[in-house]
Amino acid sequence: MKRNNKDIFLIFGLLALACVLFAGQVYGEEEYDEEAYGPLKPIVWAKPVKGVVFLHKTHTMGAGLECDSCHNGEMFEMAAGTAEENDDFTMASLYEGKYCGSCHDGETAFSSKTRCATCHVGVKGYNRLTGVVLHDAEGGNH
Ligand code: HEC
Ligand code: HEC
Ligand code: HEC
Repeated sequence: MKRNNKDIFLIFGLLALACVLFAGQVYGEEEYDEEAYGPLKPIVWAKPVKGVVFLHKTHTMGAGLECDSCHNGEMFEMAAGTAEENDDFTMASLYEGKYCGSCHDGETAFSSKTRCATCHVGVKGYNRLTGVVLHDAEGGNH
């Protein structure tokens, strides 16, 4: 009888542990709060070049920036795809301190003159992030 009780405690103990681990897995993924940190979905631009990516998560949750450091009526609208309609959404503007360049100047954040591939994910990255399926370029293997 004593032996059995021990086994039962062990089983319940293991079940409880499994529950905690499982809950951690499930809720861990949903911890990100879009109200507090902005949309989770990456923003990807195709103009003038494909593709440049921006993540709210790393800027708000990660770097601790407030919404109005970028959504201040001057830098970025709260509407994906707005900036890429402007003719001056270029590296020259970034180097002058506009758009991303207002922080990515080598002081507030890494310089726009370095680490090109951190922002530029290319055509492949663009397709992956936007879920575009290539038919012609990849030989129609879909
Ligand atoms: C470091 C700059 C930056 C910060 C900080 C920032 N955003 Fe953004 N946000 C952007 C950029 C860039 C875009 C895309 C604008 C464009 O394409 O012209 C955007 C777009 C958006 C959009 C539109 C998304 C869509 O799919 O149309 C929403 C909503 C948004 N931001 C909310 C927030 C909120 C809420 C915060 C604060 C918690 C925040 N943003 C902080 C840069 C920022
Ligand atoms: C208000 C300031 C600010 C603006 C505007 C800003 N960033 Fe950032 N960004 C930061 C900071 C701070 C970091 C983290 C420190 C670092 O990596 O130097 C960062 C990190 C990053 C990173 C590395 C982490 C990641 O997200 O993967 C990328 C890529 C990036 N920014 C892209 C952009 C792009 C693209 C834009 C313009 C659409 C932009 N940022 C605009 C401040 C800014
Ligand atoms: C902080 C993010 C960031 C970094 C770092 C960055 N770029 Fe860009 N780049 C952008 C954004 C934003 C655009 C405009 C959106 C688009 O073209 O999709 C752009 C556009 C461009 C364009 C087309 C417009 C133009 O100016 O001719 C070229 C070419 C380019 N980048 C080259 C580079 C090279 C080369 C590097 C590295 C030396 C670099 N970029 C680093 C964000 C960045």
